[in-house]
Amino acid sequence: MTANALMRSQIGRALQFINPPFYLFDLEVARSACLEFLENWRDAFPRTDAAYSYKTNSLQEITRVLKASGCGAEVVSAEELRWALADGHPATSIYVNGSGKSRDLLDLATQVGATINVDNRSELDTLREFSDRNPKLLLRISHTVTSTQTSRFGFPQEDIGDVCRYARGQNLSVGGFHFHVGGIGCSPARHVEMFLVALSSWQQFARRERNLKISIGGGFPTSCNGQEVDELFIKGFLQLVRHLDIDPLDLHLIAEPGRRIVECAGSLVVRVIAEKLSNGRKLLLTNGGTHLLRYRSARSVEFLGETGGESTYDVYGRLCYESDLLADGVVGPGCVPEGTPLIFYGAGAYDFSMSWTWNDHLPKVLVTDSQEEATPEFLISNKRLDGRQC
Ligand SMILES: Cc1ncc(COP(=O)(O)O)c(C=O)c1O
Repeated sequence: MTANALMRSQIGRALQFINPPFYLFDLEVARSACLEFLENWRDAFPRTDAAYSYKTNSLQEITRVLKASGCGAEVVSAEELRWALADGHPATSIYVNGSGKSRDLLDLATQVGATINVDNRSELDTLREFSDRNPKLLLRISHTVTSTQTSRFGFPQEDIGDVCRYARGQNLSVGGFHFHVGGIGCSPARHVEMFLVALSSWQQFARRERNLKISIGGGFPTSCNGQEVDELFIKGFLQLVRHLDIDPLDLHLIAEPGRRIVECAGSLVVRVIAEKLSNGRKLLLTNGGTHLLRYRSARSVEFLGETGGESTYDVYGRLCYESDLLADGVVGPGCVPEGTPLIFYGAGAYDFSMSWTWNDHLPKVLVTDSQEEATPEFLISNKRLDGRQC
C-alpha cells in the first residue's frame, strides 16, 4: 500500500470521532521510509548512516520511532541536542549543524562527544577552548546556488585548504566534510557536484584521516505515491566514486534526511466551510490556512464524500488576507457540500513543524501506527516537544 493509501484509511477512522482541522501522523509510514532509505543507500554504500533532521518534525512519537528504526539525529540547537539524548541516541550518532551555533551548544556537543559540522572560523575559535575534549569535527563546504553565487552556509570551496591548516593550528582535527544542498525539488546533479567537491577536498587536504566521514546533508525528495526517489541520487554518487577509483567501503557517508522520511507520514485534514464564485473561478473556503500548510508544493489533495461530476477549485484557508491560498486548480467533484473533509497529503514535514498560531489554537495532532493491528489506537498528542499546546 502507498503512504497516501495508508494515511487515507486512518483518516477515515479518525473522522468518526474528531472534527477537522487536525494533523494525522502514521508512524508506520515514517518507519518504512526510514528503513527503505537506509536499505537503498547501504546497498551501494554499505557504510551509510542516516541522521534524521529533528527540525523537520520533532514530535517525540516520530523521533523515537525513527531512532528505533536505525536513524541517528541531526540537530541545530542545544534544545534539540537534549531531545536527541533523551530519545536515547548515543553521541556517536548525533550531528550538530547550524550557522549560528551558540557557545552553550558547542560546549554541550563537545562534552557529550557529538560530531559538529563546523560552519565558520569563529566556531573553530570557540572550539579551541574545548580542544582537550578532542571534538569530532567535519567542515561544512558551501554549495553552489547559481553560476555566480554560493550558499552563505559553510566555508567557501576555495578556502578549504586554509581552513584545514587553521584548524590544525588550533589543535583541532578535521575528520571529514559536510555539505547540504537544500530546498524543495533539488536535483541529484547538485548533490553529485558537491560530493565531488567533498571527495576532492579529502584527497587534497585530509587523506591522512582514517575513517573519513562525508556528510551528504539532506534535501532528498520524497514520494508519497510509491515512486522510487533515491535511485537517481545513488546512481550519480556511484558513478562518481567509480570514476575516481574510490572503493565505496572506504567512505563513511552520513545522510541527514528530513522531508524524505517524514513528509509522507503526515496529513492535514480540513473541512469546507463555503463555496463561492469569484473572478470566474470556483473557490472553496476551508477552516485550514497557510499557517498550517506552509508550502504550496505539488501535493495531493483528496475530497472525501461526494464523488459525482467534476469541477476545478481554488482552495483557500480562513486567514484574513488575500494570499491564504492552499491549492489552486484542484480537480474535485462537481458539487462540494459544506462540511466536506479535504485531505492535504504530505504535510508531515515542515508544514507541521513550522505551523503557527494567529487567532486560534493549533489543531489536534493524532498519531497512529498502522503496523500494529488492523485498527490501531489513536494517540492524541496535545503537547509538542517545543512545549506549545495544540
Ligand atoms: C544541514 C541540514 N541537514 C539536513 C536538513 C534536512 O533537509 P531535508 O528536510 O530537505 O531533507 C536540513 C534542512 O534544512 C539542513 O539544513
